[in-house]
Amino acid sequence: MRAVDIIAKKRDGLELSSDELKFFVDGYTRGDIPDYQASAWCMAVLLKGMTDAEATALTLHMAHSGDTLDLHHIAPFVVDKHSTGGVGDKTTLVVTPLVASQGLPVGKMSGRGLGFSGGTVDKLESISGFNVSLSTEQFMAMLAEHGLVVSGQSADLAPADGKFYALRDVTATVESLPLIAASIMSKKIAAGADAIALDVKVGQGAFMKNMQDATALAQLMVAIGRGVNRKVAAVLSDMNQPLGNAIGNALEVREAIETLRGGGPADFREHCLTIGGKMIELAGKAANLDAAKQLLAASLDNGQAWAKFVEWITAQGGDLRQLENPELLPAAPIIETVAAPQSGFIAAIDAAEAGKTSVDLGGGRLKKGDPIDYSVGIVLHAKVGARLAQGDPLFTLHANNRELLAAATDRLLPAISWSNQPVAVPPHTLGIIE
Ligand code: URA
Repeated sequence: MRAVDIIAKKRDGLELSSDELKFFVDGYTRGDIPDYQASAWCMAVLLKGMTDAEATALTLHMAHSGDTLDLHHIAPFVVDKHSTGGVGDKTTLVVTPLVASQGLPVGKMSGRGLGFSGGTVDKLESISGFNVSLSTEQFMAMLAEHGLVVSGQSADLAPADGKFYALRDVTATVESLPLIAASIMSKKIAAGADAIALDVKVGQGAFMKNMQDATALAQLMVAIGRGVNRKVAAVLSDMNQPLGNAIGNALEVREAIETLRGGGPADFREHCLTIGGKMIELAGKAANLDAAKQLLAASLDNGQAWAKFVEWITAQGGDLRQLENPELLPAAPIIETVAAPQSGFIAAIDAAEAGKTSVDLGGGRLKKGDPIDYSVGIVLHAKVGARLAQGDPLFTLHANNRELLAAATDRLLPAISWSNQPVAVPPHTLGIIE
């Protein structure tokens, strides 16, 4: 087989066999197939799509590109969650300790920022010392000792996804339904959880812009998971405006800390309760989603979730002082608040533009392996539906130089639309696919 023939076949819209997909995945993972051929193949997949059979085979080959963990000697039932990617999406930072605080083991493999969406691994690395590069042994040991582990892609676990993910980030090939499904589900299968709650984002700041595509992605991932005997449910959630108020790595860690201490923005807290609640429900630890959410709300309010967060972050090497004093997290030298240019109701905040503004400030990558500035980003002071008077604080930018700050202001202001009439707060959970 030759990589070039497989690229041409997909370019011509033909179905690839499982053997061809295995050849391509294994060849790229080993380094025999170079980045330029893998980029061309990803673009062909993005443009021509894949059948469900191809997407399933791709997922399984990517999952088996490294170790696939069986965690049952450590814990009888392990849960996991994954988001399809959004702006301001710091859910993992809150949900994983929240669920683990209820005695339910959580083992999770996360990714870095992808396109305009942030990544949990980058957010966690804004905490000094936090180690996301865990070997299989370290992953299992953390899970056994603390009932919670979050690692990045490694040479051991789904290495194929690690390579494709970094490549897609910078080759405009993220927004492909089969590539997203394979990327997410290969990690989930490799990391060995029994139940997986998927957070499928829908809207301008998501890779799936409408309910039809998001539903198709959710159904495909649920079917792939069921095919390998995992319990899977997908929550479809709104990503037309950013989640919570903070966008940017260290700023999002701060917001996660506020939420774990019982505060935080209402939409973000509610979202965490829904995703965490689904994990608890899938594990059979509550009769229904409402009962699960009540358990978790209590854990946020009584300090249990916070205690688990501190145990987890410090066990993976993170600096306790930064958790207890978030002002010690990376902080930008220039912090400036932009005022509302008019009075009225906020009708929309384009989440994709907000995500791109954060990347422009230095919070994301434009080329593979680019360094990240953890300190920069945006804090919104009002969300859709809020009423503001001209001059009220609209958002605060955290930047490392004045030129980037000015460009960010120019990009973000027009991304916010206004109405003279009251605007209803949009629903956040749009559906659940079991
Ligand atoms: N999250 C992932 O892990 N992979 C994708 O492709 C998109 C979101």
